[in-house]
Amino acid sequence: MKITNICCIGAGYVGGPTMAVIAQKCPHIKVTVVDLNTDRIEKWNDENVDNIPVYEPGLGEIVKHSRGKNLFFSTEVDKAIDEAQLIFISVNTPTKTYGSGKGMAADLKYIELCARQIARVSKDDKIVVEKSTLPVRTAEAIKNILDHTGNGVQFQILSNPEFLAEGTAVEDLLAPDRVLIGGDTTPEGQKAIQALVDVYANWVPKDRILTTNVWSSELSKLTANAFLAQRVSSINAMSELCEKTGADVTEVARAIGMDSRIGSKFLKSSVGFGGSCFQKDILNLVYISKSFGLHEVADYWEQVIIMNDHQKRRFSKKIVSTLYNTVADKKITFLGWAFKKDTNDTRESAAIYVADDLINEQANIAVFDPKVAYNQVIADLNYLESRAPHKNEALVKSFSDPYEACKDSHAIAILTEWDEFKDYDWKKIYDNMLKPAFVFDGRNLLDREKLTSIGFHYQAIGS
Ligand code: UDX
Ligand code: ADP
Repeated sequence: MKITNICCIGAGYVGGPTMAVIAQKCPHIKVTVVDLNTDRIEKWNDENVDNIPVYEPGLGEIVKHSRGKNLFFSTEVDKAIDEAQLIFISVNTPTKTYGSGKGMAADLKYIELCARQIARVSKDDKIVVEKSTLPVRTAEAIKNILDHTGNGVQFQILSNPEFLAEGTAVEDLLAPDRVLIGGDTTPEGQKAIQALVDVYANWVPKDRILTTNVWSSELSKLTANAFLAQRVSSINAMSELCEKTGADVTEVARAIGMDSRIGSKFLKSSVGFGGSCFQKDILNLVYISKSFGLHEVADYWEQVIIMNDHQKRRFSKKIVSTLYNTVADKKITFLGWAFKKDTNDTRESAAIYVADDLINEQANIAVFDPKVAYNQVIADLNYLESRAPHKNEALVKSFSDPYEACKDSHAIAILTEWDEFKDYDWKKIYDNMLKPAFVFDGRNLLDREKLTSIGFHYQAIGS
């Protein structure tokens, strides 16, 4: 089967960048990204690519290159499904906030709605590709819905998990470590796999395209994220021990990272990992393991989350205890709100939880993030439902100028590792703060010697 028309349902952090790169690399394929959210689609179509809803270095250029030629953003979901031979499902799968599996299982209602819509609209055979990260055996559920509610047409379900990391999405998509495609072992399944392999083969070397069965593919994605998150929690666990023993976690990470069996990546101690994937995927793994009665397996992985929650809480507690056990009415400036640098995504960002703790202590929080607006900060805090929204609005302000954000504050907390923070005029910031002036560096980003020589009380993670 030769693919000439692709539809992607969901124009988010995964669907948008992935389809933009497919469109650029496959000029012979028409790619339509659809979403129910009209505001989001309007932004993807904004003439000025600086206004597209996902901030990713290099993405604006790629969108500009193909948009209107073979890349389209639209709210006409039915039409795009009808026209496509290959449909990517790239909708959100948040953790359930209600009912059985609450706080653990993935909420598959958006996936199910998509499957039903595809079944209703399709008039010819389709390949349906799971792009969102899903619990193992979701493909089976999708297949059931498609086969029982469709118009008698044939569906092949593939799993093609996304391994891009936000902030480096374009690089990751252009030169992936690997592309993973899982499908049925039947001849039809193999044909569908080959059709998707042929799409990627337009720019990805063949030896980097792995094909497996559907379940292995689904589970590999959860496993990759669990292993990565586990590394961060492992080094974060050592950071607390370093603080007690006089060791320096950065030196420890360097020393162990040079062991080629361990490797140097994902060993940066921090205020805790965030993002839409790590926590959700591990909770999924825990939930699945428990549902099979594998309690030791579940407990093992749950510990990664417990450690991460501890790391975030430990950071806020350290701020309070250092500031003489009270932050009530004190101005604490947050530099960074996004869950990592080079993205405007704030899902599960450590900043949200640290802020929540400090607001409980009646602190005033001033936020500066180069890519995150005030309404997002407030929405993130309101989502926790810790207090009435007006209280969050009263205690949290955001600034468009970092120097204004830091003026008259008692302490600065670095929550995101944005490069620009390193180059600020720290002497000027110091002069305009209350004394003693504290910096709590949740990303080990700044130069300790430089800051202490200016006069700051500087505390980093794990030293
Ligand atoms: C992750 C996976 O890396 C990616 O393959 C998958 O497709 C989606 O989930 P993402 O969440 O976008 O990607 O970012 P990632 O770079 O993995 O960082 C996740 C969190 O861990 C961030 O909050 C980051 O700051 C933190 N982190 C990462 C650390 O604290 N230390 C590290 O050494 C690395
Ligand atoms: P991700 O990080 O996985 O890309 P996002 O939340 O950024 O997640 O994007 C998912 C997108 O999917 C959202 O823009 C949401 O509006 C869209 N979406 C969810 N359900 C549907 C649906 N049934 N049809 C079309 N779009 C949908």
